[in-house]
Amino acid sequence: MISVKNLSYGYGEEPMFKGANFFVAKNSKVGLVGANGSGKSTLFKLICGEEYPEEGKVEVSGNILSVPQEVKRDEKMEAAESIRDYLNPKNLKEDYELMRIISRLELAHLSLDDAPQYLSGGQKTKLAIARALVSEPEILLLDEPTNFLDTEGKLWVMNFLSRYPKTLIVISHDLALLDKNIDKILEVNLQNKQIEEYTGNYTSYLKLKKEKESLLVRQIHVQERHIVQMKKGWLKISHVKSEKGVRQRINLGKRIDKLESNLPPMPLEAKKIKIQLPTPTWVGELPLIAENICKSYGSKKILKNVYFDIKRGERIALVGQNGAGKSTLIKILMGMLVADSGDIVKDDKLNVGYYSQEFETFDFDETLIETVKEKCELGEQQLRSLLGRFLFPGEKVFQKVGSLSGGEKTRLSIAMLLARNYNLLILDEPTTYLDVLSQRLILEALKAYKGAMIVVSHTPDFVEELKPSRKFLLPQNKWEICRN
Ligand SMILES: Nc1ncnc2c1ncn2[C@@H]1O[C@H](COP(=O)(O)OP(=O)(O)OP(=O)(O)O)[C@@H](O)[C@H]1O
Ligand SMILES: [Mg+2]
Repeated sequence: MISVKNLSYGYGEEPMFKGANFFVAKNSKVGLVGANGSGKSTLFKLICGEEYPEEGKVEVSGNILSVPQEVKRDEKMEAAESIRDYLNPKNLKEDYELMRIISRLELAHLSLDDAPQYLSGGQKTKLAIARALVSEPEILLLDEPTNFLDTEGKLWVMNFLSRYPKTLIVISHDLALLDKNIDKILEVNLQNKQIEEYTGNYTSYLKLKKEKESLLVRQIHVQERHIVQMKKGWLKISHVKSEKGVRQRINLGKRIDKLESNLPPMPLEAKKIKIQLPTPTWVGELPLIAENICKSYGSKKILKNVYFDIKRGERIALVGQNGAGKSTLIKILMGMLVADSGDIVKDDKLNVGYYSQEFETFDFDETLIETVKEKCELGEQQLRSLLGRFLFPGEKVFQKVGSLSGGEKTRLSIAMLLARNYNLLILDEPTTYLDVLSQRLILEALKAYKGAMIVVSHTPDFVEELKPSRKFLLPQNKWEICRN
C-alpha cells in the first residue's frame, strides 16, 4: 500500500509537485505517466525514501524495490562476484530459471559465472530488472523497463508483469502492452503540479484524457474570444474623459488582466513546433561506401559480406532485432570498431554526428548552457533561442546536465547534433525516453535536416514519417527500396 498526502517537492523555485495526493492499494497494478521532466523518476525516489518531501506525507507498507531508468552504479552489482550472485543472493532460484529470465531480456550470451561489473549501461539495466523479477518484492517500482528491449523482449516483460502477484508501479511508453491488467493510471500533470488518478485500464485513461483535453482547448478558445470582445469594449471607451468613464475603463482593464492571467495553459501537444537548422557542410555525391564487411564475435558471425552505401542527403533506416548487428555495423561505419575484413571509403569532407542512448559524452557537472557552448559555435543569443525551441527555456539552461531527466538528456543530445553542421547523422534509437511531444519535436527537426541520415528505431511510425528512401535489413543483409 502506498499513500501520498499533500506532497510538495521541487528544485529551486519551480515546484514539481504542489499538494499532490494519491493512493495505491495492495497488489494493484498501476501505470505512471507524464511528460518528460514532469517528475516520474523523482516520484519513485520519494516513494523509496531516497528523497524527502518538502511538505506532506509519503506512507508505504511492504518491502520495496525500485529499478531506475538507467543503472549506472548499483552497489550490489559492484560487490557481486558473478551474475548469479547478483541475481540470486538468497538462492531462491535454480540456474536454469535465472538463465530463462536473462535470455528473455536478450542477455542469453552471458554466463551466470561472468562478472557483472564490465557490462554496458543497457545490459546493467536489464540485469537489475531481472534481479527485481527474481526477488519479487511486495512493492515493485520499474522505471521504463522496456527501453533497452526489442519487440519480443518488450512483450515478454509486460506479459511477466501482467502476472505479478504483488503491488506494481510501472513507468513506460509501452503501457498498452499491459493494458487489461492495469487497475489505475497515475499522471503527473506538468501544468498543475498534481498527480491525477484515473481508475481503470490504460485505454480508458487515454480516452478520458483526450476528452478532457479537447474540452479544455474549447474552454480556452471561448475565454480567448471573450477577452478579445472585452478589449474591443475597452478601446471604445479609451478616449472618454469623464470620471465615470475613467473608472469604467480602469475596472474593465483590471478584469481583462485577471482573465488573461487566469487563462489555463494550452495542453502542450496543441502547440505548434517550428525549427530551423544550420545547413550541413558540403560533401560529395557518395560520401560513404562500405564493401564486403565481415565481423564475428568469437565463433558467432554477425556481419557477412555486407555492402552499405549512402548518398548525399539520403535517409536510410536500419532495421533488425536486437543482436542482429545494427549497432555493430554502425560502429564499424563510424570507425569505432574494426571489421574483420572489408573496405570502407569515406569522402574527406564527411562529418558524422552520432547519437546512441549508451553513448553519452556529457560532463555531468557542467550546466546545460556550458555544455552546448563548448560543442556548438553559436552566439549566446542563438544558443538560448535554440535551447528554448528544444523546450529548455529560461533558467533551465543553468541546470546541471547530470540532473536532467532521461527524456531531457536525449532531447539535449539531439538538439546539439542538429545545431552543428554535420552532413551525416547516425541515430541509434533516438526516441527511447521521449514523450509524445518531444518525439514530435525531434521528428520535425529531423525532417527539416538537410544532411544524410542513418536511423535505427523500434518505433515504426517514427521511421515511416522520416520517409527513408531505402531500408537495410539485418540479419538478412538485404536492401529494400521504399516507395514514398
Ligand atoms: N538537481 C536538480 N536541479 C534542478 N532540477 C532538477 C534536478 N534534478 C532533477 N531536476 C528536474 O526535475 C524534473 C523532473 O525530473 P524526473 O527525472 O523526475 O522526470 P521524469 O518525469 O522521470 O522524466 P523522463 O520521462 O524524461 O524520464 C526535470 O525537469 C529535471 O530536469
Ligand atoms: Mg524519468
